[in-house]
Amino acid sequence: MTTPHPLGERIVRAEGCWMETESGERLFDMVSGIGVSSLGHGHPAIRRALREQLDRHLHVMVYGEYAQDPQDRAASRLLSTLTGTGLDSVYFVNSGTEAIEGAMKLARRVTGRTEILGVEGGYHGATFGALSLSTSSHRRNAFMPLLPDVSHLPFGEHSVLERITTRTAAVFVETIQGDAGIRPVPEDHLRALRHRCSEVGALLVLDEIQCGLGRTGHVHAFQRYGIVPDVLVLGKALGGGMPIGAFIAGQNRMSTLREEPKLGHITTFGGHPMACAAAAAFLECLEELDWEAIRLTGERWSRALSEHSAVMAVRGYGHFLGVDLDGPERVSALVAAARRRGVVLFWFLSRPQGFRLAPPLNASREELDQALQWLLDALDEVQ
Ligand SMILES: Cc1ncc(COP(=O)(O)O)c(C=O)c1O
Repeated sequence: MTTPHPLGERIVRAEGCWMETESGERLFDMVSGIGVSSLGHGHPAIRRALREQLDRHLHVMVYGEYAQDPQDRAASRLLSTLTGTGLDSVYFVNSGTEAIEGAMKLARRVTGRTEILGVEGGYHGATFGALSLSTSSHRRNAFMPLLPDVSHLPFGEHSVLERITTRTAAVFVETIQGDAGIRPVPEDHLRALRHRCSEVGALLVLDEIQCGLGRTGHVHAFQRYGIVPDVLVLGKALGGGMPIGAFIAGQNRMSTLREEPKLGHITTFGGHPMACAAAAAFLECLEELDWEAIRLTGERWSRALSEHSAVMAVRGYGHFLGVDLDGPERVSALVAAARRRGVVLFWFLSRPQGFRLAPPLNASREELDQALQWLLDALDEVQ
């Protein structure tokens, strides 16, 4: 356990939106395991793909030496969602954090520059590089010193764009900040960041590990902003419940990792055949989602929650909403009240007055209506 107060449930089975505890109680997963089980738990197509791959082979060689069908299938499905963007090369790793590390190295390698900028409120992972980009002083201070030449821009402020200069290798931004409370970067600011990065030759790296792959009602969250990043970083939902991360860039840039030095980034388990088989199946199912329904659910839920007197603010889109109450104690009371109704809610690490809503993208209308009603009942109880 990594906190003194874990949820502590013992889950013995999970299917669709539902998890079963050892006492046989059914729990509605309102957070999809923090944005992972986006097609619900144990989607049949993902299980089938895993079984088929299990019978063919597991790990056969470190990443990149052999050609492997599951890697090819996952890569071509993923890249087909990015046609026309110039993002045509993907590097698979084992987690979101590792994908961030890979993208940081890529940015320094491509530009020959050292400065990397993050944005206030960002969370990118817990290894030294990813932690350096993240801004929670509470979680950083105990591990100082972190990576040199990494600093942070204030969130959403046009006036500081001049801090991005010809010294800057990259700016890392979550298109919609997850841990900061589901906080979308304002549209004009994201465009201004894109413009400034292009002006000075810095890479714009979008971390869509949490907000991407369907959460907002678009395959990629940046698609609602009409801009394209230089590097896109994915994780969490990508493996349909299996561990995988990916950073994606143009082939011309990605190829810098294989020369001078060759093996500029290496991994034993990255692109694991089981994880890639699951990712390919996940991406195939993603194409069949009802995008309009996901967007409308977000609007319906935002409206219903905003009208509740206990709710201070609602942010986000689709199945990716952050809700503020009047303080952390109220949120704790709500999590407990929802749990009594069989609904799992979860906090943010950096926004204790808020909680997250990220139900599976393929939950039925009946399930979503029922879950919203339980949530509203729990809010009535704690207000
Ligand atoms: C936006 C974002 N980036 C990076 C990470 C790190 O991903 P992982 O925990 O899979 O390594 C997370 C995890 O929550 C995240 O939300």
